[in-house]
Amino acid sequence: MRRFLFIFSAIFSTVFHAQKKPNLIPYPQSVNMQAGKFEIPETLILNDKLPKEETEYLKKRLGSQVKFKSSSSTEKVHVMHLLFPQPKIPINAEADKEKYSIYISPKRILISSYTKQGYFLALQTLIQLFEEHREDKQIPAMEINDSPKFAWRGMHLDVCRHFFTVDEVKQYIDYLAMYKLNTFHWHLTDDQGWRIEIKKYPKLTEIGSKRKESMIGAYVDNTFDGKPYGPYFYTQEQIKEVVKYAEQRHITIVPEIEMPGHALAALSAYPELACTKGPFEAATKWGVFDDVFCPKEETFTFLENVLDEVMQLFPSQYIHIGGDECPKTRWKECAHCQELIKKNNLKDEHGLQSYFIQTIEKYVNSKGRKIIGWDEILEGGLAPNAAVMSWTGVNGGIEAAKSKHFAVMTPGAFCYFDHYQGDPQSEPNAFGGFTPLDKVYSYDPIPSELNAEQAKYILGVQANLWTEYILDFKQVQYMIFPRLMALSEVAWGTADSKNYKDFENRVIQQFKVLDKMKVNYAKSIYNISGKVIPAVNGVAYELSTSQNSNGIKYTTDGTDPTINSQSYQEVIPVSKAMTVKSAYFEEGQLKSAVSTQQFTPSKTTGKNISLEQQPSENYSFGGAFTLVDGIIGNQKQLGKTWLGFNGKDVVAVIDLGQKTQFSEIYFNTLENKGSWIHLAKSTQIFVSDDNTNFKMIKEIGKEEIQNSKGKVRLNIGNQNSKYIKIKIENAGIIPAGNPGADSKAWLFVDEIGAL
Ligand code: ACM
Ligand code: ZN
Repeated sequence: MRRFLFIFSAIFSTVFHAQKKPNLIPYPQSVNMQAGKFEIPETLILNDKLPKEETEYLKKRLGSQVKFKSSSSTEKVHVMHLLFPQPKIPINAEADKEKYSIYISPKRILISSYTKQGYFLALQTLIQLFEEHREDKQIPAMEINDSPKFAWRGMHLDVCRHFFTVDEVKQYIDYLAMYKLNTFHWHLTDDQGWRIEIKKYPKLTEIGSKRKESMIGAYVDNTFDGKPYGPYFYTQEQIKEVVKYAEQRHITIVPEIEMPGHALAALSAYPELACTKGPFEAATKWGVFDDVFCPKEETFTFLENVLDEVMQLFPSQYIHIGGDECPKTRWKECAHCQELIKKNNLKDEHGLQSYFIQTIEKYVNSKGRKIIGWDEILEGGLAPNAAVMSWTGVNGGIEAAKSKHFAVMTPGAFCYFDHYQGDPQSEPNAFGGFTPLDKVYSYDPIPSELNAEQAKYILGVQANLWTEYILDFKQVQYMIFPRLMALSEVAWGTADSKNYKDFENRVIQQFKVLDKMKVNYAKSIYNISGKVIPAVNGVAYELSTSQNSNGIKYTTDGTDPTINSQSYQEVIPVSKAMTVKSAYFEEGQLKSAVSTQQFTPSKTTGKNISLEQQPSENYSFGGAFTLVDGIIGNQKQLGKTWLGFNGKDVVAVIDLGQKTQFSEIYFNTLENKGSWIHLAKSTQIFVSDDNTNFKMIKEIGKEEIQNSKGKVRLNIGNQNSKYIKIKIENAGIIPAGNPGADSKAWLFVDEIGAL
């Protein structure tokens, strides 16, 4: 009977009612608007057979809006739940366990699912509909049929660089639940702090959960607060409480215990697990450190005992064992490590990294669990059953999937929420990078390199929140919202970047819910976006807003825009040094932050530029044009203006369009050894009139670049040429004695100018 009604009303609705579609995030796979409305009553009558725990959650979430009563009558109730009929073929546990449908008719709300998990997801949809109709108290009738595309829909939180309380972690888990994410990756150990109580090794938290002080401000400032940090950790009782809390929200917690690198806090407590004697201290600055676990018997026993307690606490199928950024410096000089390489016929220290991970994998597998690790676990050969978390780009995920290993995609360029989401000048200090909302929304977790069969190995997608520069929970909220909503839709599989505007409108509706919860979300989407474009005489600056573009006001004299400033009508020509300040006004009120952009044009500005090798995907921003856009990168904000090259040289050719006189060439490069960013090793400048025959006119070495502190200014005599070629040499392999020794150095470059 109900089936019949479904079809009947569906037909009528398409004929008679073009109702506005709901403001849901993630948007469901299918929504059919129908005739009529469900009036939200003062007291919502719930069927008493609704799954208990999930329904308690519903009551908590809607408690400020309606009262509740329960009833056994199927006639009188407003909310009912039915199991889907079992299909002839057995349900596919993975794909179907999260499937649900909601049928809202003027009389009642019927939810169907195979599992409590599906029911819980349906409740999230229902809660969003109630929130949307808080004022008008009428939910349009509709039928929703929904299930996620990806089984792993994750958010990560680093509690080592900065610690967050049990209550804050629970709030974080609530945010995941609200937007149908189902995996919480809890980053519990790192150089700067060990945050989980391990009964067998009490010193891990007695000693390892504290550090002497913390780095503050921009990394380049190398400034410390002088304040002891910690002891901060979670007791096993607290962990159990959080695991239970997450379970009630159908969220799996995947704990991460970092090895073999990022181990300084552990080594501060148990120095005997290192290659050298120590003593060690939990790190006070950010970056990568040379002292790592030594792959000796004692270390494996220690890690296995730690993992025993971890596996007792966390029922997840996967245990994250880290595996990223492990310098090989100590292993190279350690007699035991070298002996182990020989004894096991390993190729080198990368082989030893693989040996390390495989040893741990065997142990974890023997306990019926699986390991997942950052993509460096591919180095020297992947452990037989390991899953890969692809963060340095997408290649790790591609390699894993092609070799029939599962992968979770979390490439920095799209999924690192410690990056800036708006103009760095109007954002709190962040790690670097530039990952605004629309960029996250544009991500497709299935790399185009994979065929359909290989694509099945992409388990899903995750965003990461590293907290070096995130000092408190308000800032956690700021960094994840609203980007978490974009991730949610990407993971659910209904993101459509062609319809970004529609998504953004739904985000703005969700802000009302976050406002009620007093969540400190970023309002960067209201800010004016600026884009530099080539123009006849240099470049031009194009301003845009997702709001009404008539509301943009700007100045070019350095003052803050007011309601009386110029309205933005067309692109602003930039042919001389100037500062553009812009802001968005509505009804006479300033709505956005003031965006500031300084321009320092030169003879290269806006000219054609080509690069022999492209920057790394995670730091490619506007591509080669970034180097001649008239904007000089801020040394403190590794935001949108820098290009990053991993192990590669920058070889750029700039076409000035015609023979041009110039006598100085400049460019900027960064140094941040803790993050493996090194100044260039050398630079050569060439000129040409035909783009074929180049004449070298200047060459400088490392010393001169060091003396310039990365702001390289070169007098080259009077030149008159059409082409400039500049070769900026990458430092290459990081030398011993530095963080990341033996790995490829990063070269960051911005703005190649000529005067
Ligand atoms: C990472 O960001 N080091 C995984
Ligand atoms: Zn060693």
